[in-house]
Amino acid sequence: MPNKFISIQEAIKKGKGKASVRGWIYRERGSNKFKFIVLRDSSNIIQCVLKKEDFKDQWDHIDKLQVEASISITGTIHRDKRAPTGYELRAKEFELIGPSDKYPITKDQSQEFLLDVRHLSLRSRRLTAVMKIRSTVFRAIHDYFHSKGFYEFQSPSITPNAAEGGSTLFKVNYFGKELYLTQTWQLYAEAGISSLEKIYCVAPSFRAEKSSTSRHLTEYWHAEMEEAWCDFEQLQDHAEALLKHVVSEVLKKHKQDLKVLGRDIKKLQPTLKKKFKRMTYDDALKILKQKAKMSIKWGKDLRTVEEDELSKLYDTPIIVTRYPKEVKAFYMKEDPKNPKAVLGFDVIGPEGYGELVGASEREDNIKEIMRRLKQEGEDPKNYSWYLDLRKYGSVPHSGFGMGIERTIAWICGLDNIKDAIAFPRTMTRYRP
Ligand code: 4AD
Repeated sequence: MPNKFISIQEAIKKGKGKASVRGWIYRERGSNKFKFIVLRDSSNIIQCVLKKEDFKDQWDHIDKLQVEASISITGTIHRDKRAPTGYELRAKEFELIGPSDKYPITKDQSQEFLLDVRHLSLRSRRLTAVMKIRSTVFRAIHDYFHSKGFYEFQSPSITPNAAEGGSTLFKVNYFGKELYLTQTWQLYAEAGISSLEKIYCVAPSFRAEKSSTSRHLTEYWHAEMEEAWCDFEQLQDHAEALLKHVVSEVLKKHKQDLKVLGRDIKKLQPTLKKKFKRMTYDDALKILKQKAKMSIKWGKDLRTVEEDELSKLYDTPIIVTRYPKEVKAFYMKEDPKNPKAVLGFDVIGPEGYGELVGASEREDNIKEIMRRLKQEGEDPKNYSWYLDLRKYGSVPHSGFGMGIERTIAWICGLDNIKDAIAFPRTMTRYRP
């Protein structure tokens, strides 16, 4: 049987005539002659009016309808400037699909309560807008890499190795052995490039972050790429082009959703138009000293406050390169111009959204990798398979990881990364 229902957005677009829509009650109010329902579906909201005299048999049900009940309505569409989206559906037929108890979410509830009932608050117009944008961000990442000739390649989520330092590893009791949830696909990707050359993945990464901040999750989605023969400059070009593509797709498809979120799109437009500022770590220290009166000792990592100060000086993401070796992971290639630095970079988002991308050309000198593994407190024996990759036809290669929720939080202008994912996981939040 053909589906007679159209989406609310399609009904609004149609603007007149008969339409059947279905969804959930977003708002309701009644009098002894009428019931006004604002109905929502995934596409939009529309005001519906039910006249008591047309629904005498059903009025008992209609009168008692509560917010979030699911219903279907057939009626005629009329232009009405007073209605929230400019149109009204005058009901001729009504069906109650699923009644609703008294809905626990009302106005002005705390963020914590809304997270406790995330299985319900997910229906809010705000989170619906974020989730639509999130879907486009994922699609854009896949499209970008496919358009550049990359293969999608997966790595295991359970691994015997750390890659990003032992302090944020989640232990897994694997039949009595201690293994870990993956922090990154990278080490496996470095094996994959000798087969496929250009690969990417979109997958969850896990970090046992013990602090609760507005930009850390314990489970986040990670878009990573690894490419054989790719040098440090080409890697920066990829990171910039990927971010530009993602923002461009969101701006193309989600003006309405960004409006629901109150996001000023003028803040995103420079990312499309301007080349991202690229600066070395040394330049960043100079700029922070001159413009923000912040003195940072060479060799210290940039902290959140410093990244934020730096990001405030630009209206696009910025690329900070050649960090001190001591603060970066064992796999980053030593800078041929300065043995104390690495060919690694971070992309820092504007408006204080923090590090969006972490990247590097990869070290090919086995001795140097072993030295740095030991320095990080790791036993190189546990990495023998990774070291093998440098013994059998190693080639120059580079890669990066982009934090998808950080990117979404920036694009949507969210206060907290937890709203960039449907069911966030942090140290204290693991339900629902
Ligand atoms: O800088 P990170 O640790 O780099 C890596 O994992 C590399 N192995 C990636 C690679 O080269 N293939 O993480 C990459 C990005 C960060 O820039 C940040 O955006 C995000 O992942 N990220 C987090 N996002 C949310 N919550 C956390 N706890 C995050 N930790 C990192």
